[in-house]
Amino acid sequence: MRNLYESAVKQLALKFEVLNSEFNIQYSRSPIHHIESRVKSAQSIMAKLAKKGIPFTIATAKENINDIAGVRVVCNYIDDVYRVAEIFERQKDVEILKKQDYIREPNYNGYRSLHLDTRIPVYLSNRTEYVVAEIQIRTIAMDFWASLEHSLRYKAQEYIPQHISDELQRVATDIASLDQRMQAIHDQVDELSDARSDNAT
Ligand code: GTP
Ligand code: MG
Repeated sequence: MRNLYESAVKQLALKFEVLNSEFNIQYSRSPIHHIESRVKSAQSIMAKLAKKGIPFTIATAKENINDIAGVRVVCNYIDDVYRVAEIFERQKDVEILKKQDYIREPNYNGYRSLHLDTRIPVYLSNRTEYVVAEIQIRTIAMDFWASLEHSLRYKAQEYIPQHISDELQRVATDIASLDQRMQAIHDQVDELSDARSDNAT
């Protein structure tokens, strides 16, 4: 079972790497900053099933947990998040099961990211298995917030006092506005370099 999910994660990461290098050739820049991937440990799978009150078997895990295979695609700019998602969604062997846009509608605590629950075929020696994976696409800035918030929550053992969670949410809002400003700077620089190459021809 692990091998199956590890294969799915490898295939997904490769899809994004290919997309990134092709984009690089066409536009001389990379939309993706880096990619992280992991297969959930047996321990976390058991904990998640226990939380849902479901007994632990391979079949129940496959059926009830959508993020045994997880891929995180960290993009440079906010427009890159949607561009990368759109190109990925168009691929014929990719089935999108669920899309959660926590950028347009952030989580209650300020968390931002685009989540795609997908199913892809993994070709084995004697059969094809369809494997579910969760893809999180976000900017470097969103990733910075999410990873620190995650470790703070872990350290606080899930209990974060109201005034601290309010402050975390304000930081998330500030970060979102920085993302927009960086996008605007990037667009202006793009226009400048377009104008320069138009003049040169
Ligand atoms: P499952 O996908 O079944 O877990 O339930 P769901 O669809 O309600 O969860 P969701 O897609 O919202 O979140 C899944 C993953 O997103 C989590 O395992 C985290 O990696 C990430 N995530 C969601 N909310 C937060 C958050 O508030 N903070 C951080 N740091 N990560 C979050
Ligand atoms: Mg989800």
